[in-house]
Amino acid sequence: MVQSANYPQKPKAERLAVLLEGIHPSAVEALKRDGYTRIVTHEKALSGAELRDAVREAHFLGVRSRTQLTAEVLQNAGLLTAVGCYCIGTNQVDLNEAMRLGIPVFNAPFSNTRSVAELVLAQIIMLVRGIPQKNAILHRGGWTKSAADSYEVRGKTLGIVGYGHIGTQIGVLAEQLGMSVVFHDIAAQLPIGNAAELDSLEALLAVSDVVTLHVPQTPQTDNLIGPAQIAMMKPGSHLINASRGTVVDIDALAAALQSRHLHGAAIDVFPVEPQGNDATFTSPLIQFDNVILTPHIGGSTLEAQVNIGKEVTAKLIRYSNNGSTTSAVNFPEVALPEHTGDSRILHIHKNVPGVLAQVNERLSAGGINITAQYLGTRDTIGYVVIDVDRAASQTALEALSAVPETIRCRLLY
Ligand code: NAI
Repeated sequence: MVQSANYPQKPKAERLAVLLEGIHPSAVEALKRDGYTRIVTHEKALSGAELRDAVREAHFLGVRSRTQLTAEVLQNAGLLTAVGCYCIGTNQVDLNEAMRLGIPVFNAPFSNTRSVAELVLAQIIMLVRGIPQKNAILHRGGWTKSAADSYEVRGKTLGIVGYGHIGTQIGVLAEQLGMSVVFHDIAAQLPIGNAAELDSLEALLAVSDVVTLHVPQTPQTDNLIGPAQIAMMKPGSHLINASRGTVVDIDALAAALQSRHLHGAAIDVFPVEPQGNDATFTSPLIQFDNVILTPHIGGSTLEAQVNIGKEVTAKLIRYSNNGSTTSAVNFPEVALPEHTGDSRILHIHKNVPGVLAQVNERLSAGGINITAQYLGTRDTIGYVVIDVDRAASQTALEALSAVPETIRCRLLY
């Protein structure tokens, strides 16, 4: 089912925002501040008929990871303008169907950057000092007061693999502790502070006292750190992985800990992770006192939840008010200036040849002056945004809604 081309626009205060799964109140506050006062919140995920009923009239829909937005659910949400995933992942949404229906989906990939960076900073100090093993011994009733194998981090070298949002923040924090920072990235990155870029992963592994991984999950990063790479690491060095579980060969890491080639490790992400808090965790790393194990909580802090609430809501509001789709995960990305003085028409259409020509011909035939035009395409859809004189807006809306390839057409005042 394709949505009706010109779906009705209500005043902000009448547009319904439905937020599921206990999304942080910062989202509600941000909506209210912008005049979206019709808000329904649910503490839990919904499914089946309950979900369909909840979203039937929604203008915005906010979910976290548990609500499954299938094609059927999306097709039944005839007024749905945008979906916000208040988390990192978007697998829970049928992104292709959302795209086909002209519904952009937004998420919050970078709201928890600082949380990950702080955890890794703490892990660096703990590992270099040999704290995990000392802590474990005391928990078993032992006592090992000794300076053996305990070091300051000042003057040590931190190797950052993947110098993006998280990697750069860790570099800045580690330099404040007096560490030398080197990094390796496949893309050209501007070094921050005194960080030095190295040409290869091998060069980084050879000089680092601590190696920390901050790359995405891609075919290229699958087992990026295997037996050969671990062998290149300095004897007595440390490995931290808070990126994705596929990046490190866990058996190779276990072997290097067994042989004492590595002094310790901190691992937050695993190739296979338990599905819920009641499930059992197993890993070859459980046996090692000198490994800090955490249950994929690198980004899990209350501050990150607040930031996610604000970031995703800001994206929903910006799309609804202004038409900008910057950072949408399934939609052509168009960054738009404010439309002061003009009316703006958002035209979402099937991405086939000739649609833009038709749009322009119809406006020209109606004697409508275009003051600005922006276009983006992605896969099967095109998105053209047109600013027109305010007096001509209704005529323009009708003309564009009549283009046969139209999926949706919306007028912003
Ligand atoms: P980002 O996209 O800002 O940075 C990733 C960097 O890795 C980019 O600069 C990219 O060019 C680089 N890169 C990609 N492939 C590479 C390769 N083969 N070798 C070297 N560099 C490579 O991502 P961000 O936000 O810094 O996140 C990094 C990782 O952390 C991601 O895998 C993300 O999923 C994970 N993460 C984990 C969390 C946790 O709870 N443990 C929370 C947040 C993110």
